Amino acid sequence: MFTKRHIISIRDFSKDEIDYVLSRAEGLEKYARGLTDRGCKLLEGKVLANLFYEPSTRTRLSFEAAMTRLGGEIINLASQESSSVAKGENLADTIRTVAGYCDVIVLRHPREGASRMATSFSSVPIINAGDGAGQHPTQTLLDLYTIKREGLLEGLKIALIGDLKYGRTVHSLAYALSLYGATLFFVSPNALEMPEEIKSDLKEAGAEISEYTDVREVLKDVNVIYVTRIQKERFPDPTEYSKVAGTYRITTDILKQNEDVVVMHPLPRVDEIDTEVDKTKNARYFTQSFYGVPVRMAILSILLNK
Ligand code: CP
Repeated sequence: MFTKRHIISIRDFSKDEIDYVLSRAEGLEKYARGLTDRGCKLLEGKVLANLFYEPSTRTRLSFEAAMTRLGGEIINLASQESSSVAKGENLADTIRTVAGYCDVIVLRHPREGASRMATSFSSVPIINAGDGAGQHPTQTLLDLYTIKREGLLEGLKIALIGDLKYGRTVHSLAYALSLYGATLFFVSPNALEMPEEIKSDLKEAGAEISEYTDVREVLKDVNVIYVTRIQKERFPDPTEYSKVAGTYRITTDILKQNEDVVVMHPLPRVDEIDTEVDKTKNARYFTQSFYGVPVRMAILSILLNK
C-alpha cells in the first residue's frame, strides 16, 4: 500500500488502493465515533503537523480528531500572522523545518501545485489538504466513502453541481469516479464549467459525461447530487463573481422531482442549499463531514505504517 508516500492527487491512487482505504475506514468507524472503551493506540508516539495557509473547519479539525482517536499528537501552525510566515519565510523553508518536528504534514495552500512542490523539501509524507483550484484527495476519499455507505458506488449516476471550474473537490471526485464507471452529469453556470483539460482526461479514461446549466434537467436521472459553493476567493475579478453568485439553489421544492436522491456537499455551504433541505431524508452532508474522521484515520494509519 501507500506507506510513507505523499498524498497529492487522487490520480496517484489505484482503484485497489482506494478500495483498501474505504474498507479500512469502515473498520475504524467505531473508534471515530468514540464507541469503544479502550480507544485506539495505533499511532501512539506519532506527530501530525497541520499547516493551513487558507481557512478550514472540517479538514483541519477532522485530521486532528483522526490523529487524536488513533492515539497520536498534533502540532499546528496556528495562523500565518502568528508564525514566521508573517516575517516572509517561504514555504520551502517552513516545510524543511516542520518536517523535523513531525511524522506527517497536512498542507492547505491557496496556490495550485503547492503541495507537489512541498514534497521536494519534506523528509516526511505531505498530505494535500487542498491546493487552490487543484485537488483535495482526502475529501474525495470521504466522498467516496459516503457514497459507498449509501450502497451507491457501483453503477452510480451523479450530478456535480455548481462551481466546477474552481472547485477542487469536484475535480478530484470526477477523476476518482471515472475509476468506478460512474455516469457524470456536470451542472453549472456557463462561466463555471468543468475545465476542458479535466473533461478530456475523463473522456480518455472512458467516463460518460454530459453538461447542463439547470439541475432540473437531470434530477430524475441521478441517485446523488453533489452540490458545491461558488469559490468566491478564486475569482481574479470580483465583478465576474457577482455575475454568477446566487445562480443556483437546491430547495425542497426542487427535490420533489426525485424523492430518493441523496444530497451531498463538501461544505462550507453559503446559500446553494436551502437550510430547509437539512430536515429532509435526502440531506447527507453532515454525515459526509463526519466520515472525514474514519477516512482520515484510515489514511494516517496506512501512511504511518501501523
Ligand atoms: N470540505 C472542506 O474542505 O471543508 P473545510 O474548508 O472546512 O476544510
